[in-house]
Amino acid sequence: MTSATDDGAAGATAATAPSALAPPQERGPREAILEARDLVKHYPLTQGIVIKRQVGAVKAVDGVSFELRRGETLGIVGESGCGKSTLAKLVTSLEAPTSGSVRFKGEDVTRLSGRALKALRRNIQMVFQDPYTSLNPRMTVGDIVGEPFDIHPEVAPKGERRRKVQELLDVVGLNPEYVNRYPHQFSGGQRQRIGIARGLALRPEIIVADEPVSALDVSVQAQVINLMERLQDEFDLSYIFIAHDLSVVRHISDRVGVMYLGKLVETGTESEIYEYPTHPYTQALLSAVPVPDPEAEERRARIVLDGDVPSPADPPSGCRFRTRCRKADERCAREEPLLRVPEGPGRPAEGPALHPSACHYAEEKARIVPD
Ligand SMILES: Nc1ncnc2c1ncn2[C@@H]1O[C@H](COP(=O)(O)OP(=O)(O)OP(=O)(O)O)[C@@H](O)[C@H]1O
Ligand code: SF4
Ligand SMILES: [Mg+2]
Repeated sequence: MTSATDDGAAGATAATAPSALAPPQERGPREAILEARDLVKHYPLTQGIVIKRQVGAVKAVDGVSFELRRGETLGIVGESGCGKSTLAKLVTSLEAPTSGSVRFKGEDVTRLSGRALKALRRNIQMVFQDPYTSLNPRMTVGDIVGEPFDIHPEVAPKGERRRKVQELLDVVGLNPEYVNRYPHQFSGGQRQRIGIARGLALRPEIIVADEPVSALDVSVQAQVINLMERLQDEFDLSYIFIAHDLSVVRHISDRVGVMYLGKLVETGTESEIYEYPTHPYTQALLSAVPVPDPEAEERRARIVLDGDVPSPADPPSGCRFRTRCRKADERCAREEPLLRVPEGPGRPAEGPALHPSACHYAEEKARIVPD
């Protein structure tokens, strides 16, 4: 028998998750399945009612490059408005980039249209942030989970749909008998399981999960993350897992990218980012994550992020983080730091701090100037 979870799911899921035991390298070959190069998305700002004139642009994503390897989870973290959801929409082809490319298995998907684009979308699915608003309240769970089959009937011919939907509900730890129920009859965690079942319906190779647990209680968050880890192994999935909180993505991510104002500012393996962060922004985000040991919590230094995030329509010159960075100097206003392995005086001779960081003064320890 399966045990019930806090979110009321019937799953045999979390407790038996094989991925909790399997190190990432055993999950499968590690070739890049997706490559984003210099992705840019600028939303035009217009003035005028009859004759619209472009007066600027919101630089939501402004030159982002990364690789997603098969079977891995890439965590993307950053504050509200830094461009995470826009990046997710570019990767899933829900929006076209202003410039740059997204290659799926080597093919540039930003150039696809028609049938080829439809086939591509089947392979890269999205799971959305808020299970309360992303599910249509007037549709049954069966209709919601089976909706992708309307667009891709070749995956499940009409006569097989109900059985396929019930299989999907079972796979995500929900009772297959719930197929005729409506979203309001489920808890938040169960609704996110429904969202995940829908994301799995077309058997994609990649799932882009945009803050899939942000709206859930902490205990339920862990169950949904465990479920996603189990499904990753079962279905050989690669994930881009988006969150605004570094602590949420740590457990599930093999690698992490930290975003600020439309750019990646630091990328590395889970341990490089959490144990050896070199970018002042990552260091500040990590200093805000509570530590379970009360004594250590008492001793540790917090780096307070001063000021608000600047507008992406008018980002600061040079380093975009400089208006909130305690280490900023005139070089930071003048020269944009590139995302690369640190060079110069702060650079360690060797070790895990040598991962890409977009800071002129990247170093393992935060050099905090007292106020
Ligand atoms: N369709 C659009 N038109 C104009 N501006 C947009 C559009 N979509 C997003 N933006 C702007 O682009 C920036 C990035 O938005 P995005 O939703 O990608 O951020 P986010 O990191 O997902 O934020 P959150 O954590 O709040 O979900 C924001 O300033 C937002 O207002
Ligand atoms: S380049 Fe300058 S402003 Fe930017 S993060 Fe580094 S020290 Fe701070
Ligand atoms: Mg978002």
